[in-house]
Amino acid sequence: MLDTPRVPAPSSDPLPKPGANAAGPADEGALDPEAMRQPLPNAWYCVGRAEDLRAGKLRSVPLNGELIVLGRETSGAPFALRDRCPHRGMALSLGRFDGDALTCPFHGWRFGTDGRCREVPTLSAADAADFSKIVVQRFPVVESAGFVWVNPWLGAPGAETPEVPALGFEPRGSLVVALEVEASFDLTTLSLVDPGHVAFVHDSWWFRPSKELKEKVKRFAPVPYGFVMTSHATTTSSPVYRLLGGVPEVEIEFRLPGVRLERITAGEKRVANYTFATPMTPNRTLLTNALYWNIPGLNLLKPVARPLMRQFLTQDQQVLQHAQKGLDRKPTMVLFGQGDLPSQWYFRLKREALQAARDRRPFANPLEEQELRWRS
Ligand code: FES
Ligand SMILES: [Fe+2]
Repeated sequence: MLDTPRVPAPSSDPLPKPGANAAGPADEGALDPEAMRQPLPNAWYCVGRAEDLRAGKLRSVPLNGELIVLGRETSGAPFALRDRCPHRGMALSLGRFDGDALTCPFHGWRFGTDGRCREVPTLSAADAADFSKIVVQRFPVVESAGFVWVNPWLGAPGAETPEVPALGFEPRGSLVVALEVEASFDLTTLSLVDPGHVAFVHDSWWFRPSKELKEKVKRFAPVPYGFVMTSHATTTSSPVYRLLGGVPEVEIEFRLPGVRLERITAGEKRVANYTFATPMTPNRTLLTNALYWNIPGLNLLKPVARPLMRQFLTQDQQVLQHAQKGLDRKPTMVLFGQGDLPSQWYFRLKREALQAARDRRPFANPLEEQELRWRS
C-alpha cells in the first residue's frame, strides 16, 4: 500500500486527474462545511415498502433526524406528517387513525392527513379559541418502484430535486432486504459507488468465485444528478449472471441522494438490482436492497436468494460500522486512485446540488464522460 498524504473528508474539489491524489484546494465558495457533512436536505428518501403501508395503519419512521408518521388514507393515498403532536409533543403514530383523521392519544386532538387540526375535544363551547391554525408539518410523499419516498425538506417548496427511481418494466417478482447500518449517510452511500471494496468484502463463493484481482476498464458518463457506468457485455463469471442465460448487458447508475440502480438486460429478460441509502439519524443509515425480475422461473429461487442477499448486505453493514468507528476517532479519508474517483464524484455532485440550491439556479452536473481503470 502506498504511503499517501491524508486529506480531510469529504475531499471533492477539484476533480483530480486519474491516478492523482485527491487532495485539492478547498472550494472558496461560501458553502457551509457543515452542510457538506449532512445528507442532502431536499431530496426523496426511501422510507419502506409500499405494501407495508396499509389503509388505516400508522407507521413511524426516523428520517434525517426527524420522526415521520406515515399512513394511507381510505382512498389509498399515502401521507407523511411530522410524528409530533403540536400540543405536548406526543407521537401521533401511537394514536388512532380512522382512514381520514389522526387522533392524538394524549388529549384527543384530531388532525386531518393534511396536518390541520380539526378538533380539540376538551374545548368547551364557551371557549373561543380557534384551533384551525394549529398544524402538523406535512411532507411530500410519493410511491415508486414498490417503495414509499418522502422528502423531509422544510424549506420553500418548488426547488428541483433528483427524480425518484422508477422500474421501467413490469416485474413478475421481487425480493427486498433492508438493514440498518450504524454509520453516517455519506460513508454508507460511498459503498454504493466504491468498486474497490467488492473483492475484499463481498468475497462469497456465489458472488465472486475467483479470488484473483483483474484489471477493469469501464466507461462512465454523467446523467441527471449522477453518473452511469455505460451498458456493456459483462465478462463476469458470476453464477447469478449465468442464471439469465447468454451474456447480459449491465448498466449501473448512481444518482443523488444515495441511489444505485443496476439494470441487467438479456433479450426480453430483465433483472433490476436497486439499492437505496436512507439517513435515519446522523449515525444510522438504512440500506435497502430490492431485486426485481420479469422472469417467472426466478420466483422459485426466492428462498435461496433471500439469505444470500442478506449476507451480501450484512458484509457491507459490518465493514461500514467498523470503518465508522475509525472515522469517529479521526474524520479524514484518503481518496486515492481511479477506483476512488466515483467516491469523489459523489461529493462533487452533492456540493453542486447544495450550491445550486443556495444560488437558486438549476443543478449543472459537474462530471464529464471518462474511462476508469482499476483492479477488482
Ligand atoms: S399532546 Fe396531543 S393532544 Fe395533547
Ligand atoms: Fe458493498
